[in-house]
Amino acid sequence: MSQSVLVLGRQPALGIAEAESLFGADKITPIGSQFVLLDARIQDVPFSRLGGSTRVAKLLTFLPYTDWEKIEKYLAEELPKHTCCLPEGKIRLGLSVYNLSVNIRRLNATGLTLKKAVKADGRSVRVVPNKEHELNTAQVIHNQLTGPTGMELLLIRDGERTVLAQTTAVQDIEAYAARDQARPARDARVGMLPPKLAQIIINLSTGNQPVSMDTEILDPFCGTGVVLQEADLMGFRVEGSDLEERMIDYSHDNLVWLSQKPESGLHGLNPDQIMCQLSVGDATTFNWKPVPNFIACETYLGQPFSTEPNPEKLKQVMSDVDTIHRKFLQNVARQTESGFRMCIAVPAWFTKSGVRHLKTLDSLEELGYNRVSFVHSDTRDLIYHRENQVVGRELVILIRK
Ligand SMILES: C[S@@+](CC[C@H](N)C(=O)[O-])C[C@H]1O[C@@H](n2cnc3c(N)ncnc32)[C@H](O)[C@@H]1O
Repeated sequence: MSQSVLVLGRQPALGIAEAESLFGADKITPIGSQFVLLDARIQDVPFSRLGGSTRVAKLLTFLPYTDWEKIEKYLAEELPKHTCCLPEGKIRLGLSVYNLSVNIRRLNATGLTLKKAVKADGRSVRVVPNKEHELNTAQVIHNQLTGPTGMELLLIRDGERTVLAQTTAVQDIEAYAARDQARPARDARVGMLPPKLAQIIINLSTGNQPVSMDTEILDPFCGTGVVLQEADLMGFRVEGSDLEERMIDYSHDNLVWLSQKPESGLHGLNPDQIMCQLSVGDATTFNWKPVPNFIACETYLGQPFSTEPNPEKLKQVMSDVDTIHRKFLQNVARQTESGFRMCIAVPAWFTKSGVRHLKTLDSLEELGYNRVSFVHSDTRDLIYHRENQVVGRELVILIRK
């Protein structure tokens, strides 16, 4: 039975695949393209590790109608029964409405109706005014709507019914930015992997494997170490390798920086101990010892392009990158056993004539892998891409045959 709701991020297919990977296909029900109903108690949703969801909410009820007047009437009757139980102090209330037929003026009028209803019950309340149908993350945080005397109600149209849920957490944008921008070693040349995307890659690789320091995640193209950082914060043991010594130094400096934070699994380790988890090595030939439990990485994406290159140039870059990937997958297949799982973010090129995929993806079976597909997300949609970017990152989940 559904008990929680996830509000998905900019590329919902990634968030859906991530949720399916962690909870299982039978535990999730997408609503439209932007939400997921989750058969998990709110306290069992590890929200801070979900890169693909922006909010998590506790499912309160399904209303068997979508008519705004009826919804307002229901809320005015029911809300005081809940607000009366909140701790003392001024209550702050917000409404976020999705796909229901109500304009902003009417929505703000409903806010005032609810304010009166709660006040009539002896509680003082401030309603956050809606400029849009949805309050933004900053408004939820600033007004402490997930705090003890706060309440953000989500009203989501699902066919002929309305899902009513209460937000319990929103993505901590500042914490993500701090992890990204405050770390000492950064390199624009290798491309900045957003921490949220790193989380999605890790979640797609580990699936529902419980978090433990006995489970090791390897990033064989670790660069500045974003995947390693995020996997460490989730509670996994991490190992990284990269062709360039300079990158290993960067990863090292970033992990040492992270280890100074109490929430890091590396906390208390000295810089030499951290160095032991990092190696200079070519992913097409390196022997990882011991063999990790999972691989999660953004691979080598080839030359970055700000505009589409000419066909000859693109052909050459695609061919070079293809060779590295083919050899890398052969090398991993040599060292791993049947069932070994990994998620790799590989380049996909967005050209005027369409998306060009890595050629290696056509011969995965031959290389010894089955590609994982998802019940609720189309494999073709699992490409992280921003408008005007030439090189996107295609998320490929593989299981060793
Ligand atoms: C796109 S970057 C990965 C960035 C990384 N995710 C991060 O957080 O910084 C690709 C990395 O692959 C490394 N690389 C390229 N070819 C390699 C190879 N054959 N074996 C191992 N690493 C390689 C590069 O040095 C670079 O650091």
